[in-house]
Amino acid sequence: MPGSKATSSDTVARTQRYNTVSMVESISPVQGLHGVVTVPGDKSVSHRFAMLTSIAEGESLIHNYSTGADCQSTLACMQALGISHEFKEVDGQRVLAVHGKGIHGLQQAAEQLDAGNSGSTIRMLSGILAGQSFTTKIAGDSSLAKRPMKRVITPLSQMGAHIEAVEGQFPPLTIKGSHLKAIDYELPVASAQVKSCILLAGLYANGETIVREPIVTRDHTEIALRELGAEITVEPRIVRVRGGAPLVAKTLFVPGDLSSAAFFLVAALIVPDSEIVLAGVGLNPTRTALLDVLRCMGAAIKLLHIQQLNGEIIGNLEVRTSRIKGGVIEGATTAAVIDEVPILSVLGALSEDGLVIRDAAELRVKETDRIKTIEDNLRRMGVEVRTTESTLEIPGKQKLRGATIDSFGDHRIAMAFAIAGLAAKGATIIQDAEAASVSFPEFYSILKQIAR
Ligand code: S3P
Repeated sequence: MPGSKATSSDTVARTQRYNTVSMVESISPVQGLHGVVTVPGDKSVSHRFAMLTSIAEGESLIHNYSTGADCQSTLACMQALGISHEFKEVDGQRVLAVHGKGIHGLQQAAEQLDAGNSGSTIRMLSGILAGQSFTTKIAGDSSLAKRPMKRVITPLSQMGAHIEAVEGQFPPLTIKGSHLKAIDYELPVASAQVKSCILLAGLYANGETIVREPIVTRDHTEIALRELGAEITVEPRIVRVRGGAPLVAKTLFVPGDLSSAAFFLVAALIVPDSEIVLAGVGLNPTRTALLDVLRCMGAAIKLLHIQQLNGEIIGNLEVRTSRIKGGVIEGATTAAVIDEVPILSVLGALSEDGLVIRDAAELRVKETDRIKTIEDNLRRMGVEVRTTESTLEIPGKQKLRGATIDSFGDHRIAMAFAIAGLAAKGATIIQDAEAASVSFPEFYSILKQIAR
């Protein structure tokens, strides 16, 4: 059993304490994982629904909104811009009601906005803020203060916004909104956040904004815009949105987060005698490269009860302990599994032939420099790993040794190494374990529930 100190009732308090108190989790090897797991609502979809329903006309109901701190940051920002929301019970479920005020309904915030740890919040919301008739300052925590923003500043400036940033590229951003002009923009870096930022700004531009992407990235913004009535057309790697069209409030459902499910998928693969079901997980094809990679490596994963809701595909994943071969992840596949690299690295060490991950320079500018934080923590567990500026190479058939892990405040590092602890010899201590709350506050309590 993982020797968790926290219970599920701690999760709210833990989220509130995030960044102030350091929590430690102790994880011990387990005999097997069994049960049905429901992961929180998808983080990417939740951000988009919160922003778009705020600028839609009327009350929208959002089912299964992410419980993670990042998505609460987005709601708090929208509230500071004059959009109220509340959580209410509908048929025994917690549902978010957002009182949208239309595309021109935001008001100037009294103070600077706080995006917390959330790159999605600051980058996507910048697109909306660029189209306002007022100035907004938006900041975040110490991790966010180091993340590159030039990728949104450049296109938004071309559209006519005026943006100040630290050293021209880091938060806080001061965004002076303007009447925007439509642009035809080719993304230099494959990024769904940047694509979305430009599409959201495009809602405020006169004419048709076009975004061209080098490879297909997650398309939740395009799907949500279509659901809410925007004028949007999508061809492979080219998205067009026309400015000025109103968005209409709607009842929406957020699928479970596949990137959160990834931790339990890998846990069930590596802990002997495990079989779990992950229920109601988002299976949007722009997100499921993880499943292809895992299956190629030998994972026994079944997809069941597939359905479509609000343009997003949802289903159950049944997974059981499997012999994992190993593999190479590169090019567009690396981009498509970029959030899952921490947990895939753990799997790589336990695989037969090891795992090589190439073309992963973007990992250097995530919540932490993940090439460094993965390497550091794998070494703490006695695992051999080689890295370059953009690659991780983890030989297979390695034994994990229980160790003291540092999450470095990164949610996915905390959770990946908690899972590693299940398959290690001896106890593993996760320092700054509360970082998991950024996307998955229930993570440790669910782990405790399914462990035998
Ligand atoms: C996200 C896109 C990805 C991903 C992030 C969420 C999104 O980032 O890593 O966790 O919701 O659009 P990039 O756009 O920087 O690739």
